[in-house]
Amino acid sequence: MRIIIINGPNLNLLGKRETDIYGDLSFNEFFQALQEEYPQVQLSSYQSNIEGELIDKLHEVGFDCDGIILNAAAYTHTSIGLGDAVKAISCPVVEVHISNTMQREEFRHQSYISSGARGVILGFGMQSYELALQSFLK
Ligand code: DQA
Repeated sequence: MRIIIINGPNLNLLGKRETDIYGDLSFNEFFQALQEEYPQVQLSSYQSNIEGELIDKLHEVGFDCDGIILNAAAYTHTSIGLGDAVKAISCPVVEVHISNTMQREEFRHQSYISSGARGVILGFGMQSYELALQSFLK
């Protein structure tokens, strides 16, 4: 099973950025542990701070994988382009957020990703990614 985690803007700073909200684990540390825990999954990851690069990545992998775990970060709330890309591809996408965006500012309640996603997982910290992965294994 081939699953890719795609992370949007500022998620390269996980472990350093707003640690009260996002925790103190870097994505690389977390990703390594996840790979070790699920050796049966061909797991890869991609991060970009650039909206168009995230769209390009969805086009590149989106017709040839078993699942995409997408944390579009702030673009979740602004990007019609990313939302359209999720709808354009054939691989199922699970939208994830580390924080519970519904408990945060009003502008974070809007998602352009959700309507094209198979499901949404939010608010479980870094475990949100793992829960999304498990949803593909069922
Ligand atoms: C986030 C929530 C977004 O609102 C925010 O812009 C992020 C991270 C999360 O994982 O909780 O950068 O997607």
